Amino acid sequence: MLQPYIGFNQAVVTKRIDWTENLFSLRVKAPLINYTAGQFVKLAQYDEHQELIRRAYSIVNHPIDHKATGELEFLIVTDPDGLLTPGLHMLVEGDELLVGHEPAGFMTLDEVPEYTRILWLLSTGTAIGPYLAMLNDKSIAQRFDKVVLVNAARFEAELSYQKEIEQLKQHYQERLVYVRIVSRESVSGALSGRIPMLLKSGSLQKAAGVPLESSHSFVYLCGNPNMVRDSSDSLIELGFSKHLRRKPGQFSSENYW
Ligand SMILES: Cc1cc2nc3c(=O)[nH]c(=O)nc-3n(C[C@H](O)[C@H](O)[C@H](O)COP(=O)(O)OP(=O)(O)OC[C@H]3O[C@@H](n4cnc5c(N)ncnc54)[C@H](O)[C@@H]3O)c2cc1C
Ligand SMILES: NC(=O)c1ccc[n+]([C@@H]2O[C@H](COP(=O)([O-])OP(=O)(O)OC[C@H]3O[C@@H](n4cnc5c(N)ncnc54)[C@H](OP(=O)(O)O)[C@@H]3O)[C@@H](O)[C@H]2O)c1
Repeated sequence: MLQPYIGFNQAVVTKRIDWTENLFSLRVKAPLINYTAGQFVKLAQYDEHQELIRRAYSIVNHPIDHKATGELEFLIVTDPDGLLTPGLHMLVEGDELLVGHEPAGFMTLDEVPEYTRILWLLSTGTAIGPYLAMLNDKSIAQRFDKVVLVNAARFEAELSYQKEIEQLKQHYQERLVYVRIVSRESVSGALSGRIPMLLKSGSLQKAAGVPLESSHSFVYLCGNPNMVRDSSDSLIELGFSKHLRRKPGQFSSENYW
């Protein structure tokens, strides 16, 4: 049994999915916590000096699923030189880890301004995770005319959760548009390049078949901080402004590092 630590619950891995050699999902059974779709918690393990290494991970499953199953799901990319992910990557069914019991983060549907008719969810790599939790929220169909989900990966194999996204598309029909971007190989049906340039050139909007207008759109940016910075610049050029609680705008972001 793992040594307890203040602020953390003990959890057990119940399922593992390997998308690629470095990209995997873990489902863990943990005591129930109260979170909102889009939020993250900390995962932690002890290192060889018995020091706790903890990092933030977005929760992929919706709170309703967590309440029903007692499980939390995470999508993780291993950095071979990182302190925590190589250890997480070694976990298999039945192994233990620690999960923080204080979810955090403001990238949630509650924070999206009321006027929004078209919601853009732009991600690189593992940052598709929090959007999948949000897309399983019942309020989506009532609140938005359209949701555009975008995931940019280096290679096609790193576009995870394709089956679940297909099911969401079946559920929402033309209300949900999914755009794939693959930057390091040519893939039919996927855009190539990077989100900031694709926004600036209008290629992303064209592929989505949805105009990007600040009057009724809201954009979330999540993942690689350089993508977030450069896409913010592109959006500002397109007439958008950063959303702040004291000064509402049309885009907001969460950096993964
Ligand atoms: C709010 C928030 C939510 C996050 N959610 C997730 C998540 O759902 N899945 C996930 O895999 N990571 C997520 N991260 C990143 C995670 O917290 C760790 O930073 C990451 O797993 C690396 O940890 P490490 O100890 O192995 O590497 P470290 O020893 O901390 O070194 C990490 C280095 O790897 C790079 N890096 C870190 N995270 C990523 C990433 N996700 N993709 C690409 N490069 C990265 C950076 O260059 C960083 O300097 C999130 C971070 C934040 C702040
Ligand atoms: N060792 C390995 O074999 C291996 C393999 C995969 C991942 N990793 C590790 O995992 C980490 C995460 O990799 P990842 O592929 O999930 O995330 P990533 O490096 O953020 O790449 C995901 C997508 O974001 C794009 N991107 C990168 N920088 C950008 C920028 N400044 N603006 C806009 N888009 C940008 C990438 O395009 P580009 O292709 O144009 O950069 C790619 O399409 C890496 O940092 C690495 O440590 C290791």
